[in-house]
Amino acid sequence: MDLHRLESPEAVAEHAAALVAEAARAAVAARGCFILALSGGDTPRLTYSRLAQRDYREQLPWRDTVVIWSDERCVPPDDEGSNYRMAAEALLNRVPLPADNILRIRGEDCALAEDLRYERALHRLLQNPLQEGRIDFVLLGVGTDGHTASLFPNSVALAERYRWVLPAVGPEPYPHRITLTLPAINAARRVVVLATGAKKAPIVQAIARGEADEKWPIVFVRPRGGGPTWLVDREACPAGEGSGPDATP
Ligand code: 6PG
Repeated sequence: MDLHRLESPEAVAEHAAALVAEAARAAVAARGCFILALSGGDTPRLTYSRLAQRDYREQLPWRDTVVIWSDERCVPPDDEGSNYRMAAEALLNRVPLPADNILRIRGEDCALAEDLRYERALHRLLQNPLQEGRIDFVLLGVGTDGHTASLFPNSVALAERYRWVLPAVGPEPYPHRITLTLPAINAARRVVVLATGAKKAPIVQAIARGEADEKWPIVFVRPRGGGPTWLVDREACPAGEGSGPDATP
């Protein structure tokens, strides 16, 4: 397991931002474009804010970066539950990313087959032969029930082998969602999972020990290029747990 245990949520954000920056530079150098999938929830907010700080704001190839989402709640973009809104406030409104480079899941249009529209738009974005149909970097969180993106335990979406975007059902207050599927996530060049705080310790420790529950969707995130890379803080992975470069043996 590629697990990196950092001191704090801020250290996790610092490390995550550095991995995004490294992947962005490599992708633009190799293919002229960097396609980054963002997740919602609270954990990634610190990483987004770190990427909006002056060094990365000025150094990263934002003009050649396209931002997409791993999932979205079926709410308008100005709703407090919108994953787009959280990313816009923490990052997108604070860096020189062209508006045309933001491929937002239109949560307000879920009832209008937004999953199909988004899937078509995503496939058009990835059709450049150099891209090889792969998202460059997917940043994920994980729920205490082992969900990731909006792939929840016992979801029919977990069995999907062909579609890249599907409607999903989650818990209140945002039961209706749209999510990338496992084929989309596992085709990515790099997948990084962020987990901080004591609430995530049972999940992180079980996975680190190879004792993961097969009901946890995060277990099925197995990118073809290896990983995912887990970035966790000490509360989510107390000393002596886990394996990997930064974990205490
Ligand atoms: C969402 C997120 C979701 C999130 C987990 C963890 O739309 O809710 O994409 O998958 O990553 O629920 O959320 P926290 O980071 O808030 O614990």
